[in-house]
Amino acid sequence: MIRSKILGLGSYVPDRIVTNEEIAYLDARHIRHDEKQTDTTPEWIRTRTGVEERRYVPNDESTTCSDLAQRAAVRALEDAQCSAKDVDCIILATLSPDIHFPGTAVFLQSRLGIDGDEGCPCFDIRQQCSGFLYGLQMADSFVKSGQYKRVLLVGAELHSHSLDYSTRGRDVMVLFGDGAGAVVVGPSESNGPRDGILYTKLGADGSGAQDLHLKVFDSQKMPHIQYDPAWGTPDVAYPQMNGKKVFLNAVRAMNLGTRAALQATGLTWDDVDWFVPHQANLRINEAVAKFAEIPEEKVLNSIQFYGNTTAATVPLTIDHHRKAGRVKKGDLIVSAVFGAGFTWGASVFQV
Ligand code: ACO
Repeated sequence: MIRSKILGLGSYVPDRIVTNEEIAYLDARHIRHDEKQTDTTPEWIRTRTGVEERRYVPNDESTTCSDLAQRAAVRALEDAQCSAKDVDCIILATLSPDIHFPGTAVFLQSRLGIDGDEGCPCFDIRQQCSGFLYGLQMADSFVKSGQYKRVLLVGAELHSHSLDYSTRGRDVMVLFGDGAGAVVVGPSESNGPRDGILYTKLGADGSGAQDLHLKVFDSQKMPHIQYDPAWGTPDVAYPQMNGKKVFLNAVRAMNLGTRAALQATGLTWDDVDWFVPHQANLRINEAVAKFAEIPEEKVLNSIQFYGNTTAATVPLTIDHHRKAGRVKKGDLIVSAVFGAGFTWGASVFQV
């Protein structure tokens, strides 16, 4: 059977750095005030979450999710040494789409200049923080089956426009940042024991759906939007999270997923170069590393610099450490993710 591999990787984050010192003073338009807008401290954010700074798009309403996706995609295509015209399928994972419909992948396709009569299929997937690995399993299956030869998989998020910048929303608001990561997946020429995408296993538990969600609208209602989006009922307009439950389930699922990945592939941590967990909270990742007995020096994090960029965290973290000279072409990675839904997954792949 054909095996698939990651042919190229790229990421993008906007230039504006928002530190833990600054964030308490920002309003919903990201304008800094002299008075605190949110009752929080840099110390609380750093010690409880690991986040030290995050990136925000410019606050001039010039940027969309597909914009961020395009910038990461262009870099991944360059890295794969192929052109946008070679892409025969797009999968875009996001929880912060440009608009409700159509999906953001078609906007990305247009931005890449590959729309038109011969345009490739475009999929949007909605698995939040697990989106990248859900997309990777789809891309892997498409390539292995011979259906497509160059799948562009992008995780992109524009969170900073949909957070509650008041004390009411502080538990969620301090966690998230804007950014995107992308890979190009295609057929592998080699079939060695370390080559390509070796394993991906996914799962979901819909009973956790209410523990982390953002409604915006409710299709049961007539009309489906029944609030003033600017100052109406904030529980509809902003993400709602049962932080402790999410935390505990994340540790459990990522630990079990990581152990299962090693068992299924017959690999040990001596064979694996890096562990790349989803970046939701540094304490979650430290607990997963402890329970799954992962050597500390093999764990890659980037939440300190970017916060939680949801579907983008895995490719963004790998690219961050590749730019720093740590991750090299051909390195073998175990990744584990957990997100809203609840959804989760673990994968073993070469970069
Ligand atoms: N600054 C200061 N205090 C805060 C803040 C803040 N930003 N946020 C919450 N607090 C307060 C709470 O109000 C609470 O105060 P109280 O004791 O007076 O009631 C206190 O800090 C402790 O709150 P906890 O909820 O117990 O804090 P915890 O240690 O659990 O940390 C956190 C909260 C960071 C949200 C944590 O629960 C967490 O990271 N959960 C998982 C997040 C996650 O994984 N999200 C999933 C990914 S996102 C996705 O899929 C879309």
